[in-house]
Amino acid sequence: MEKLKTKNYPLGPFPTILAGADVNGKPNFTTIGACGVVCLEPVLYISLKETHYSTTGVKENGYFSVNIPTTDMVQKTDYCGMVSGKTNDKSDLFTSFYDEIGKAPMIEECPVNFLCKVIQTLSISGFEMFFGEIVATYVARQCITEGKPDPLKINPMMIMGDNYWSLGSAVGYIFKEGQRVDKK
Ligand SMILES: Cc1cc2nc3c(=O)[nH]c(=O)nc-3n(C[C@H](O)[C@H](O)[C@H](O)COP(=O)(O)O)c2cc1C
Repeated sequence: MEKLKTKNYPLGPFPTILAGADVNGKPNFTTIGACGVVCLEPVLYISLKETHYSTTGVKENGYFSVNIPTTDMVQKTDYCGMVSGKTNDKSDLFTSFYDEIGKAPMIEECPVNFLCKVIQTLSISGFEMFFGEIVATYVARQCITEGKPDPLKINPMMIMGDNYWSLGSAVGYIFKEGQRVDKK
């Protein structure tokens, strides 16, 4: 495969998520691509610009939520990445819910929600990278098939290049496809 050396920039793919935090007593949601798994323990990271409105809320409460929007939420998701809670109240865009911990708002319309407790923070180039232990996970009942979260029903979006993308179809089984490699 011939390669073209390009500028160094994060092309993707990244998951599209809505990070939630209470700021000044109201829910605020921010679109981010910088979110992922950290280790085999249930820990996620999110990376938020220091100056974002949500960042204040995560620092104040020590909790954040990770909400997975579906493709039909693309407009509201993009909006949450275009305007700041500093100037635009984003609290009424979605139906927020809290569990008994009550430390960060989660989005009812998102089929998957994680509530995370901050266990470590790393400052890097004007961003705060929050590592959060998952303390609660919610999956919409209607997105479960045969007892398991169903990716096509959850219908998440990825970010790559200039677009949001949906999942295509399953192309292989994890820890099975590798068995077919004929490496002599
Ligand atoms: C697709 C997309 C991905 C984004 N990813 C991030 C990200 O990973 N980290 C971040 O700090 N901001 C990211 N942003 C920018 C914030 O969402 C945006 O500045 C937002 O208005 C901040 O809102 P807040 O001030 O209410 O927290 C992204 C925006 C978009 C549209």
